[in-house]
Order: sequence, then C-alpha cells, then structure tokens
Amino acid sequence: MKLTFDLVLRGGSCVTSTGIVHTDIGVRAGKIAAVGDLGRASAEREIDVKGLHVLPGVIDSQVHFREPGLTHKEDLESGTRGAALGGVTAIFEMPNTNPSTTTQEALDHKLLLARGRTWVDHAFFIGAAADNAEQLGELERTPGCAGVKVFLGSSTGSLLVDDAAVLRRVLRSGRRRVAIHAEDEARLRERKVLLEDPAVTVHAHPVWRDEQSALLATQQVLRLAREEGRPLHILHVSTQDELPLLEQHRDLATMEVTPQHLTLTAPDCYDRLGTYAQMNPPLRDEAHQQALWNALREGLVDVIGSDHAPHTQAEKDRPYPESPSGMPGVQTLVPVMLTHVNAGRLSLERFVELTSAGPARVYDVAGKGRIALGYDADFTVVDMGRRVRLDDSWIASRCGWTPFAGMEVHGFPLITIVRGQLVMREGELLGAPCGEPVRFATALPRARVRPAS
Ligand code: DOR
Repeated sequence: MKLTFDLVLRGGSCVTSTGIVHTDIGVRAGKIAAVGDLGRASAEREIDVKGLHVLPGVIDSQVHFREPGLTHKEDLESGTRGAALGGVTAIFEMPNTNPSTTTQEALDHKLLLARGRTWVDHAFFIGAAADNAEQLGELERTPGCAGVKVFLGSSTGSLLVDDAAVLRRVLRSGRRRVAIHAEDEARLRERKVLLEDPAVTVHAHPVWRDEQSALLATQQVLRLAREEGRPLHILHVSTQDELPLLEQHRDLATMEVTPQHLTLTAPDCYDRLGTYAQMNPPLRDEAHQQALWNALREGLVDVIGSDHAPHTQAEKDRPYPESPSGMPGVQTLVPVMLTHVNAGRLSLERFVELTSAGPARVYDVAGKGRIALGYDADFTVVDMGRRVRLDDSWIASRCGWTPFAGMEVHGFPLITIVRGQLVMREGELLGAPCGEPVRFATALPRARVRPAS
C-alpha cells in the first residue's frame, strides 16, 4: 500500500529520542504520522531539508507579550511573529499585562484576543495575588492556561506576593507546577536607598537586586513548597548561590536559565548596553555565568526560556533607575543558543532537551516536545552552518531592538512548522496566523458525555 501524507520532510538530520538520525518525517492532520524512510510515500507537500537539522518545535515558556494594555511595547500578533521568525513554535505568556491576568475573565479575554492572531501556539499564565489565591486551583485548569505565576519581588507591573501567609495560600490552591520569580521584596525595598545616590548608574542594578535577594526568595519558596508538597519552577535563575539549594530540592523544583544570563556578562554588558541590559533578576558577573553553564552541563537546568520582555527605546533611554527592566528575546533564543552549540558549550541534543522536551516535561504539555509518533508536527528546522550578523532591523517586536545587535550568530532557524503548517521559511512568514492554545495533560478538557436518560 502506498502511504500518503499531508507533508513529508525529506532527508533531514532529525533530533529524535534515539539521537540525531538521518530520516524522513511524515505528517498527517497536524500530527507526526511516520518517522523513517518514506521514499515511496506520496505527499501533498514535500520539503527538502537535506543538510539541515530538524528539531522538535522550540517552546519558549517565558515571554511577556504586553496585550492587553501595553501594546505600544508588543502585542500577541507581533510577539508571535517574532517567535515564528526565530524558529519558536509555541509560547507561554506571562500575566503582568494591564489588567494583570488574575481572573477567569482576564484569562478568557487573552485566549479570545489570541484567536486567529498568533503565528505559533500559545498558553497564558494566571498571576497569583492575595485576592485570587483560593480560585487559582480552578483557574489553572482552564484549557490554554500554562499554570500559576508568582512574583515574589516586584518587577514590571503590579503583581506581587510578598507575604508568607498569602504565598502559602497560593501554594495550597491547585496542584500544577507553579512558576516563580524569586527575588525577596523586603530586601529589595531595604536596599532601594542605594539608588538615591544622584550619581547612580545601571551598574548598580545587580548591586541593588543582589545575590542575597535571589537566594532569600528561593529559600523561602522552597521551604513553603516542601511543607505544602507543591512542585515549583524557578524562573531565570541568575546566581551561583541558588544552585546547591536547587540541587537539594530536585524532586520538588525545576529551573530555567535565559540566553541573556548565559551570554551577556557584567560589567561589560552595562558598559556597552547601559539600561538596555537592565533586567530582573539582573545580569551578573563571569563567576555567576560560569556557574550557570556548569549547572546546565551537569543537568541541573531543565529549561531555557527567553524572558522576552520588550520596552520601547524611549522607555529604555530614561535615566536609571527610571528605566524599565527587561529585554526582548523570543526571536533570538534559537540563533544565540545554536551559536553556543557550535562553540561546543552544549550539544544539539541538550539544546533540544532544554527548549522542547524540558518545557514539555516541566509544564506537563500534552503532545509536544518530541519528534515521536502521534505528537504535534511542530518543527524548528535549522542550518547549523549559517552565519548571520544580528541587527535591530530583523526584530519583529514592537520595541524594534535586540541586546544581541552586532553579534555574529552561527546556526540559524530557516523553517518553522506548527502542527504541520509551514509558518516561516527563510525569513518570510507564510499563510495566516494559525496558533492554537497549547494542551496540558494536567488540564485536559473532559469529553462531553451525554447524560444517561
Ligand atoms: O526584567 C524583567 N522584565 N523581569 C521581569 O520579571 C518582568 C519583565 C517585564 O515584564 O518587563
């Protein structure tokens, strides 16, 4: 019998569970339907990917796309356009929009805003607050919800849980893994006097939001989560100080690092980029960066997320500390990290583990994160030999800049495929936005069963 497919990817080097194998991939109805030699199969569409690597679609599990309320910085269309151009096939978006995503209405509204406007699949976090703690268990089960996000220290927006009793209520409500921004608010407030020096510059940012601020928050949340038996995901870990603690709590907590913390180093990044290098938690010095790389090599790091957090150039040009924290990253995650792969700092398989299988495991994503039968046909097709000098003009984000401008990357995304649909090829977007909500195994909608008469 002659096999037929909607799409066949021919002759790529595919990163599968058995390693990097030279194989074809057949797609039917948006799912992976065959992995093997499909020489005799027919397909509606064939893409020759000889000489290229086919990775499971990259999932960026930490982005801020600013809609609703802050759409002069970004919106769901522009944010996901950047994702598709950068080889990312799904994004999980953070709740510090305006209004914050803390209610069922706000979450439903975001899901509605996303319909027909996203170029890649999407999911939204619900923000934890004192006044929604008891509802979180119900809210986190909403299809398309990535889970609960807690800001232990204030950053962009008004979301904050700085009270241990409230944090405990949050951790008691629901059971999915909770994403944590770990900086200790009390310490940040106490140290804010450092910013009153009229000569203060952005170089003071990692001094104000110091290692101890991160460590105290991580210690506290791990202690409460252990008592409550609630799994955590510690976002954008930035210090060597937190790593031994995370190693001790491996059964309870997973962790993320960002490409920025792995690539940009203080004080050089502040000398070169000024407030454009300002983010929370801050970029730190070489010793911390090396410790993060060691943790990544030793298997302690579970996920690489971009923490894409765009602000306009006018906003970033305000004098420190009036300048907002955050930098774009969804479009540069893949090429920047592939450059590290080519430089021998991690293997391509480890990259896939951190950007596809990792986020899928951490957040219990259903049917994504691997090249395997029955999984969504999401692919990030990359040319490991391609060298490109990044510049601001490539950036789709409303903010129009990247901290990586001028960097020559080695390894570049050429094709983005979302559930079998070709979304991006050689820098061109194709078709119309086709993104859909990501499904999570812990929150799969129940099938409607007709009541027995
Ligand atoms: O630097 C940051 N910017 N860190 C955050 O936690 C929030 C983000 C933003 O939304 O701007």
